Amino acid sequence: MKILVTGGAGFIGSHVVRRFVQSYPKYHIYNLDALTYAGNLENLSDIKEYSNYTFIKGDITNEEFINGIFHKYNFDGVIHLAAESHVDRSIADPMAFVKTNVIGTVNLLNAARDCWENDFENKRFYHISTDEVYGALGEVGLFTELTAYDPNSPYSASKASSDHFVRAYGETYNMPYVITNCSNNYGPNHFPEKLIPLFINNIINNRPLPVYGDGNYTRDWLYVVDHARAIDLVFHKGKNAETYNIGGFNEWKNIDLVKLLCKQMDSKLNRPVGESEKLITYVKDRPGHDLRYAIDASKINKELGWEPSVTFKEGLVKTIDWYLSNKEWLKNVTSGKYKEYYNIQYNN
Ligand code: NAD
Ligand code: DAU
Repeated sequence: MKILVTGGAGFIGSHVVRRFVQSYPKYHIYNLDALTYAGNLENLSDIKEYSNYTFIKGDITNEEFINGIFHKYNFDGVIHLAAESHVDRSIADPMAFVKTNVIGTVNLLNAARDCWENDFENKRFYHISTDEVYGALGEVGLFTELTAYDPNSPYSASKASSDHFVRAYGETYNMPYVITNCSNNYGPNHFPEKLIPLFINNIINNRPLPVYGDGNYTRDWLYVVDHARAIDLVFHKGKNAETYNIGGFNEWKNIDLVKLLCKQMDSKLNRPVGESEKLITYVKDRPGHDLRYAIDASKINKELGWEPSVTFKEGLVKTIDWYLSNKEWLKNVTSGKYKEYYNIQYNN
């Protein structure tokens, strides 16, 4: 089986590529990635020599290029993760999100449909989406697969749009597809623009920890390796034209999570208890900030038997240990353009 993984040099994509390359020696995994600021081949240095792995540098917004690689390789399956993924960047530059997340997805759908010539036997287009398409929850309730779409940020609007296109290609052209909507991931290789890795990096460097608003926003956190396990399961066992929600059953208010992180970092860095917490700084809120996300993951649990394998406390320790042992990785991704981004985002 020849599988195209898009966005495989990014955070989640690199864990998916590693899992498939190592678990399925009979498959060939093609990792297509534009290597934007978020893509990093260092994430895959351990598997780059495997004979069932090929990296292709390219942009999903380039229609001709995408058609070309489908005709060259004739993939049997697509696992589509490539995206602009950061909410704050979508507020600053929505069009970049329309281009990659919407147009890029439609380019892939067209190329798959044309290449497969309406013979969809044993073919699958797997679209990786987010719980943010469902909008914001109040203090109670959970997102299920039947929750109406109600996106609030340019990022979530672009992901919602791409989900609609995938379903529309299923209805209109019988494209065999599956979609998963996952909650917040964390773990190794997470780019330090997102809450957990940004705060780990700032604690290491004794810099302020910029908590948006009052910090009483809630997210549902899942260890990235457990997301990759779920993706493997859904790719192989998920029903055609179905959606599965994936989540950690693990809700945290930002401020409580940040305090836990500070405690664990103090202990790892041999700092006095309470030292890192002193870095917490409340800053202006994210516009349109969604109050709470929480996933009901009972469908994937009941139908496919998936559940998280790592508790949050274990996952957080593994994550902190990874960043502390990979300071070179952290240094490389936080030089140059990252500094410009950081100054614009946090010093304005
Ligand atoms: P990421 O930003 O770490 O990685 C995205 C990857 O896509 C990068 O390697 C980047 O180079 C590549 N890319 C971006 N634009 C491209 C283009 N035009 N052509 C080709 N490649 C391009 O993102 P992530 O956090 O790993 O998220 C991966 C997917 O999972 C996204 O679709 C995201 O919406 C979804 N998702 C993420 C989370 C999360 O918590 N991070 C949760 C649920 C769903
Ligand atoms: O829910 C899934 C989504 O999770 C994914 O689809 C997105 O790709 C991913 O980026 C993530 O979105 P969030 O906006 O929830 O993640 P982020 O890490 O940016 O923020 C988490 C929470 O922390 C959110 O309430 C905003 C807050 N925050 C974030 C940053 C970067 C801060 O308080 N300060 C910060 O500096």
